[in-house]
Amino acid sequence: MLDPWLIPVRLALYAALALGFGLPAFMLHALGNDADAAITRRLFRLTAVAAVVGIVASGFALWMMARDMASSSDPGATWDTARVLLMETAVGTTWVIRVVLLALVAGIATLRVAPERVRIAALAAIGAVALATLAWAGHGAMSEGDMAWLHLGADIIHLLAAGVWVGTLVALVLIAREASIAADTFPAQLLSRAAGGFARLGSVVVAALLVSGTINYLLIVGPSVSELVDTLYGRILLAKLAVFTGMLALAAANRFRLAPALEFALQTGNTLRAVAALKRSLWLETALIFGVLVLVAGLGMLDPGA
Ligand code: HEM
Repeated sequence: MLDPWLIPVRLALYAALALGFGLPAFMLHALGNDADAAITRRLFRLTAVAAVVGIVASGFALWMMARDMASSSDPGATWDTARVLLMETAVGTTWVIRVVLLALVAGIATLRVAPERVRIAALAAIGAVALATLAWAGHGAMSEGDMAWLHLGADIIHLLAAGVWVGTLVALVLIAREASIAADTFPAQLLSRAAGGFARLGSVVVAALLVSGTINYLLIVGPSVSELVDTLYGRILLAKLAVFTGMLALAAANRFRLAPALEFALQTGNTLRAVAALKRSLWLETALIFGVLVLVAGLGMLDPGA
């Protein structure tokens, strides 16, 4: 019986790795060279914190997995199992790669080792590989033969698409907070531009999640609809899709109502109400996506057929 404490650890892992890639990816596609220095600094700092949380959560996840496999709480037996996991399995190899890459992310996000745009591009690339390693830690690695790489590939696309959405939402909430307290309208202009910019990328993210998620389901459960209702795994996935639908409704409201309202308000200079409405919706959408990550943290531990 898997340790229920693994759920908060897996949630921390998904959230940290998604931010470790998603925040620099946001900086790359939404923030130009004229971005507010204070906001950029905060996004770098949050990326570094996410990387450190990712390393700590990876340590806990490995230890808890080893303890469950050793089915003993004796630290010596757990350490022996952890060493075998690290030295002799794909889970171990990808774990080591992830921790090394996260340490790099923490360093590059903290130290001014290169021009800002170079650091942002490097963080997005390294963060993407670190996030992709999670595919080997869940059901993504359960297929064999020809289907093995299709499943891993679909799962990696799923993780990266989820990372872009998580990172963009957290960054937009941060900018909206800044815009709601700032004396000038610069942060509100940035919010309007960034929210507008994500509208286009957002459609690609949603399509990638739907296609890769369906491939995931077909390779884990198979072409069965009844399993969605008959199994705990299926019911949790249905709950996830319900939350996802709520997110789509909020994203549509942001795109077609709240962001255009802010754009219009910027012409009159009275942006506070438009900023407050968009901020509220972004907070709600962010709460929902973390709800999806909680469900996924449990989903990946379940036996799909049970
Ligand atoms: C906001 C939208 C979504 C987010 C943030 C999200 C996030 C995730 C994450 C992080 C994983 C874990 C991958 C792993 O551990 O390897 C996952 C797995 C999965 N997702 Fe999604 N997903 C989203 C939407 C969808 C949609 C729309 C579908 C279905 C069409 C879907 C189906 C699945 C399936 C079947 C799995 C495999 C679960 C497992 O057994 O480990 N997801 N999702």
